Amino acid sequence: MYGLMQSAARSLFVVGTDTGVGKTLVACALLHALAAQGKKVIGMKPVAAGLEDGHWRDSEALQAASNCSAPAALVAPYAFEAPVSPHIAAREQSQVIDLKVIFDAHQALLQHAERVVVEGAGGLMVPLGDGPASASSTGCSALTGLDLLLALQIPVVLVVGLRLGCLNHALLTQQVLQASGVPCLGWVANCVDPQMAQREANIASLVRWLQSPHLGTLTWQPGQPGQGGQPDPAALARELRLALLPEAWRA
Ligand SMILES: Nc1ncnc2c1ncn2[C@@H]1O[C@H](COP(=O)(O)OP(=O)(O)OP(=O)(O)O)[C@@H](O)[C@H]1O
Ligand SMILES: [Mg+2]
Repeated sequence: MYGLMQSAARSLFVVGTDTGVGKTLVACALLHALAAQGKKVIGMKPVAAGLEDGHWRDSEALQAASNCSAPAALVAPYAFEAPVSPHIAAREQSQVIDLKVIFDAHQALLQHAERVVVEGAGGLMVPLGDGPASASSTGCSALTGLDLLLALQIPVVLVVGLRLGCLNHALLTQQVLQASGVPCLGWVANCVDPQMAQREANIASLVRWLQSPHLGTLTWQPGQPGQGGQPDPAALARELRLALLPEAWRA
C-alpha cells in the first residue's frame, strides 16, 4: 500500500543511476529549492560508507544545505569508515543494518522539519547486508537499497549522472521502481562528465523513455572555492523545476 503513509507527501528519496552520479549535489539542490519556498528542510543519509579525512562528506553537505538540524544518529544512523559496499563496510565493523532503526530515525526527522530529503547509497540495488529471500520484499537474497526505500514508503527522485552507460542504468532503475510499485516523482539530469559525447541526444532519449517529469538539468560546474572545491548546490537549485512535482507534495 505504497504512498499511504503521511510521510510520503513530505519526504523524497534521492536514487542515483550509480555511485558518484551527483545524488548529494541534487539532494542539496533540492533542499535549497525547497527552503527557498519557505519550507523547513533537512537532509538524511541513512547509510554512508567512506570517511574522507575525518569527514562524512555527504552528511556534512546535506547538513549545510538544510535549514534546521538534528542529532547525527537521526541524520546519518549508519556511517561506516571504509569506502566500499555498505554490506562489506558494515561487516568489517561487526554491524548489521537494521531498517527499523532507519525508519524510526526518518520518522523522528519529520518532527524536526516539514520536508526530508533522503540520499540513498550507491545505486538502487546496492547491497546493505544479507536478507533471507523470504524476508526481503523484493525477492532478492540481499537486503538492498530498494528494501530500505520500501521500508520508508516515500517517493523517489531519480538522478541520472550523464555519462556513457547512463541510459542503461536509468532504464534499469525505472524498471525496478515500477515493478516494485515505487512512485518516481521526477528525474534530474546531472552533467558529471563535461566531455560527454552526444549529451543533448542522451537527454532527449531520457525525456522520451523515462515516465516521470524531467525536473531539470544541472550543468557541469567547476568546484567553487567557497564550497570546498565542490559545485555550489544553491546556484544549481535554480535549474530545478519544483513546480513539476505533484501538488500534494509541494503544498
Ligand atoms: N554538475 C556537476 N558539476 C561538476 N561536478 C559534479 C557535478 N555533479 C557531481 N559532480 C562531482 O562528482 C562527484 C560525485 O558527486 P556526488 O558526490 O554528488 O555523487 P553521489 O552520487 O552523491 O556519490 P555517492 O554514491 O558517493 O554518494 C563529486 O566530486 C561532485 O563534486
Ligand atoms: Mg553522495
